[in-house]
Amino acid sequence: MKIGIAGLGHVGCGLIELVERQQNLRLPGEVQITGVSARSQSRNRPVDISPYRWFDDAATLAEDPDVDVFVELMGGSDGPAKFAVETALKAGKHVVTANKALIAKHGMALARLAEEKQVDLLFEAAVAGGIPVVRVLRDSLAGTEVKRITGILNGTCNYLTTVMLEQGREYDDVLAEAQRLGYAEADPTLDVSGMDAAHKAAILSAIAFSADLDFSKVSVSGIDKVSLLDLRLADRLGYRIKLIAEGVLTDEGVVCRVEPLVLPASHPLARVNGSLNTVRIEGDPVGAITLTGPGAGAGPTASAVMGDVAKMFRPAIRPAFGRAAHHMGRPFVQGAPTE
Ligand code: HSE
Repeated sequence: MKIGIAGLGHVGCGLIELVERQQNLRLPGEVQITGVSARSQSRNRPVDISPYRWFDDAATLAEDPDVDVFVELMGGSDGPAKFAVETALKAGKHVVTANKALIAKHGMALARLAEEKQVDLLFEAAVAGGIPVVRVLRDSLAGTEVKRITGILNGTCNYLTTVMLEQGREYDDVLAEAQRLGYAEADPTLDVSGMDAAHKAAILSAIAFSADLDFSKVSVSGIDKVSLLDLRLADRLGYRIKLIAEGVLTDEGVVCRVEPLVLPASHPLARVNGSLNTVRIEGDPVGAITLTGPGAGAGPTASAVMGDVAKMFRPAIRPAFGRAAHHMGRPFVQGAPTE
């Protein structure tokens, strides 16, 4: 499987690192990097990109004959990212993207283009980092009528509200740390305004409720006005302030919104701390399912991207245990329990 990677920020570099140690992963076949592209070739990066063919322009990489799957990790709902994804789809390439803004705004049009060209458009990494919620909703819960989705979908905001309260630190100081840790968007206003969580909630709602995604109908407010004093006062009264995203199926249609809520400290959502994300899916007949895990950061997000790349292999049948049964590699051994 030959992939072209456009965007070499935290996630792009995380993906290269995963490709380089793929023998330890559970991929159905070998992944090769055909070429890479980013704004700057010379920037200091945690991985060496010199072994890979450099492309100045993402769209040129997207339609390169040697690319089977175009991986878009550039970000931005319009401009070069959108153009490159459209170019790839029009050229009949499968696309994997982590770009929630792009999918929230143009996902329906891109999905139509992908269907027309008979190629896949996968975006597991766009929602909740390492939590495989897109696949669970789209595939595993296809037999359930989803009624409601509730969750914490922005790692930066959850990190902010958690660390400010636990360590008594001010907003700007903790936000700078979230940026250093690779949780925040290139423009962190997207995180703290609630927009990033809203993109994700809209994508999940479109899948869960088979709804024609219209981002302009999503209500959004963020945590940019929540102060350390607010968090402390809520805490004193036995509450936590959390940025909560919700999608609900009503008789009129899908209602999707993101806002900071004051929750009792014992509420399950109030107990999800740090950069963790959580998604609760309620449906009939499955009942309620909650998925919790790392919602941001290079490693978890790159893991989700690689999972989508792995899905692009087209074996005649899907190996029951992930890898082909004759190629499982490791033995089971008897031994003492680990710590
Ligand atoms: N900025 C995002 C967050 C990254 O903090 O959740 C993961 O999408």
